[in-house]
Parts: sequence; structure tokens; C-alpha cells
Amino acid sequence: MLEQLDHIERQALSSLQNAQDDDALQRWKVAYLGRSSPLMKAFDQLGSLPKEQRPAIGRRANQVKQALEAAFAERSEALRQAALQHSLQAERLDVSLPGRPLVRGRLHPITQTLRQIYRIFGDMGFQVYRSREVESDEFNFGLLNMPPHHPARDMWDTFHTTTPGVLLRTHTSPGQIHVMREYCPEPIRVILPGMCYRYEQVSARKETQFNQVEGLAVGKEITMGDLKGVLTDFARRMFGQQVRTRFRASHFPFTEPSAEMDIECFLCGGQGCGVCSYSGWLEILGSGMVHPVVLRNGGYDPAQYSGYAFGMGPERIAMLRYQIEDIRYLWANDMRFLEQF
Ligand code: PHE
Repeated sequence: MLEQLDHIERQALSSLQNAQDDDALQRWKVAYLGRSSPLMKAFDQLGSLPKEQRPAIGRRANQVKQALEAAFAERSEALRQAALQHSLQAERLDVSLPGRPLVRGRLHPITQTLRQIYRIFGDMGFQVYRSREVESDEFNFGLLNMPPHHPARDMWDTFHTTTPGVLLRTHTSPGQIHVMREYCPEPIRVILPGMCYRYEQVSARKETQFNQVEGLAVGKEITMGDLKGVLTDFARRMFGQQVRTRFRASHFPFTEPSAEMDIECFLCGGQGCGVCSYSGWLEILGSGMVHPVVLRNGGYDPAQYSGYAFGMGPERIAMLRYQIEDIRYLWANDMRFLEQF
């Protein structure tokens, strides 16, 4: 019996060395320490042994059991350590590596230009007023002194919708009527930025959608001098204090008198170059004193009130400032282009 126990012990300990993972360990435990293992059978047989042999064999059986349990615990721990070492090696992190740089987003050049325009007019006391992009024929033309069939409507190639009388605004000027009707009879000083749409042949200079920033001031004593002063100051803040400006007579049905403002070409300093078509000047906005008919349509009595309005294209301003020679770059979303700003 004692030899048998020795044999069990030897066999168990040697087979334990072959257990390489948890599964094998569990199988080993069942085989050598489980209910029907030879060792447990030996315990069962103790009772049937002659009385004088029992203590010695019992003691030896207990020794073997303890030895196997201790060996099992040791082997489990060794395997656990090995697994840990392995994962530490395999999943090693080099905490001294520099972090991966986050890719920084940037603002679109038109957004940058718009924000600069907002800031300049904000400093001069103008509020931003947003109005709708889908307009009625009445607001886009009629209330701006262009009744149906008025030839001036041809200045704006229009996207009409399938609903008669509903169109995509061709300029931000219809916002003038919305502001006036909302503010009347209070004085007004607002800018109206937003998208406009025109049914154009797309080219390097023309897109079917673009931004405009409209300006409108209405009050009791507003003069053309205010218009010139505000726009000249705007040009200096936008393009630099030295920039020279000039006003040229023009025509819009909703302003009277009307003027366009040019700035001295900043590329050639007024000498004449390709960008300014050898004139030395760049046209940057249309403007004028709000037409009495338009004031009345907004609810203001033109005998008591006057006002000025202007409209500029941020795309055109950005193209001039950054010397972008094709307007289509602005909406093409080509990163090579956008990353330059
Ligand atoms: N709405 C005009 C345009 O789109 C610009 C403009 C606005 C002119 C306000 C005068 C006054 O061309």
C-alpha cells in the first residue's frame, strides 16, 4: 500500500509538469485529487486495512495529498506568472513615446472673412440680422421697387421654385424689408449676412450660390455722408489703414442715389495689373440711400426718415485678399486648398 502511494505521488508530480494551461491543470486535479482518483480510493480503502497498518498508511496518504495540493498551487501560480509575463511583453506600451498630434481643424476662408466683417461692423454698432433664403417674388423684387416685368429684374438671374411666386433669394436685400417691418418705427443699424442663389453659368468668377453681407441703417437724420464714412472706415479696417477708396455713381432700383465703392488695387498699388484689369481699382460693393418707395414698404415715412444700404460679396473680398483666381475652389472642399488658410 505504501509503495502504491509513493507511485501515485511520483506519477502525479511528473504529470503535473506537463500541464501547460488552465484546462490541463483542471484535468490534472480531477485525475489526481478528484473523487475517483487513486489517492481518494486509497483513503476509502483505509477502513478495510488491518488496524495496525492504518496510522502509517493514513499518515502517508495525507502527506501525499498535501504534497499534491501544494504542487498544484505552485504550478497554478507559475502558469499565472508566465501568462502575465507574456502579456506584459506582448502588449508593452512605450510610455516615453511622444503623443500623436491631434489634427487641428480650421475655419473656411469665407467663414474667416465673414467673421472679420461681423467684427468690424459690430464695433460700429451694427447687429447681425438673419433672414430667409427662400423668398417670395414680392420681397426679392416687388417691395424693392421692381414690380413684375420691371427690366431691372434681369440683373438677377433667378432660381424659381415649382411654387409660383416662391424663389431662392438672389441677394440679401429682401432682408431690408423684413428688418424694417420688424423694427419700425425704431432706428435701425444691422448687417444681414447669408447665402444667395443665382441661375448662373458657373465659371471662375461666378457660382450659383454665394454669400452676401447686406447693411442697412435707417433713422431720422441719416445722410450719404454717413454711408461714405461707414464704408470708408470699413474698407480701412478690412484692407489696411492706408487703403484709398472711391465712390462711383451706379444704379439700383432700391437705392437713390446709388453708388459702388472701389478700393485701390492692393496688388499693384493703383498702378494697374491683371487683377484690377489695369484700372488700378477693385469694385467691392454696391450701395446707396434707401429709396423712398422701399422705406414706405418697410413702414417708414420717407418724409421723416432716411437710410442707407449696401451689399458686398465675401467671396469676392476673400478672392481679392488671398488672390484666389477661381471661385470654384471655395466650394470644392479640396484639402490642399483649404489647408492654406
Ligand atoms: N443687392 C444688390 C446686389 O445684389 C447690392 C446692393 C445692396 C446695392 C444694397 C445697393 C444697396 O447687387
